[in-house]
Amino acid sequence: MRQVYEIMSSNTVPSAVIRRMPRYYRYLGDLLSRGITRISSADLSRRMNVTASQIRQDLNHFGGFGQQGYGYHVETLYNEIGHILGLDQEYRVIIIGAGNLGQAVAKYTNFNKRGYKVMALFDSDPALAGTIVGGNPVYHVDTLPEYLSEHPTDIAVLSIPKVGANEVAEVLIDNGIQAIWNFASLDLQIDPGKVVVENVHLSDSLRVLTYRLKQLREAEKGTAE
Ligand code: NAI
Repeated sequence: MRQVYEIMSSNTVPSAVIRRMPRYYRYLGDLLSRGITRISSADLSRRMNVTASQIRQDLNHFGGFGQQGYGYHVETLYNEIGHILGLDQEYRVIIIGAGNLGQAVAKYTNFNKRGYKVMALFDSDPALAGTIVGGNPVYHVDTLPEYLSEHPTDIAVLSIPKVGANEVAEVLIDNGIQAIWNFASLDLQIDPGKVVVENVHLSDSLRVLTYRLKQLREAEKGTAE
């Protein structure tokens, strides 16, 4: 099965499908932790509020994992999706910017449990260098190239203001970083062939929430009139 989707998944899977995979993974992990070993496609679709055909289409991008009349074997599907998402290995992570956000990420122990091993933080504030956050050392950002030459690292979290973020990203990429989890509110100007970037905008999610709140209140007002 693995060989099948490795062939099928080579850069052809739409990004909307990829973005739904972590949710499948989360639901299946929840089912597993509750001892549920098998789930029908209808039941999974009802729990996730996604049509059964959407689930089938999504999984077909990777070869499909269900069986007619059986549904899905939860552990197998969980492991396969984990493999698709690259979660069956560990990643070394550094955090650039040891302020409120960087410290919160460093202290969130679930990342560690899930295989994202935070190794160190870096900051331009000399007062922070030499401190420990969430059990990890904080170094001055000027020492990044030296650190990276000695400690191969997979992912950098960018939790600094947008001013200077692009310059820091260039240093990261020049020193071997291939994945950036970018919280700085700017689009990094970098060569997409060399590095993958996930931009995180908590405020986008909050704005969608306020839109939905507005819709809900308008609907309530409409039914009250
Ligand atoms: P903060 O001010 O507490 O921390 C920022 C840290 O970055 C400071 O310790 C500062 O010394 C350091 N820093 C600044 N320039 C640097 C550089 N060039 N190299 C290394 N370190 C540098 O701010 P906070 O609350 O932690 O937020 C950090 C950034 O993340 C802010 O720009 C904020 O706008 C952004 N942010 C984005 C969110 C999102 O959803 N995308 C959510 C929250 C914050």
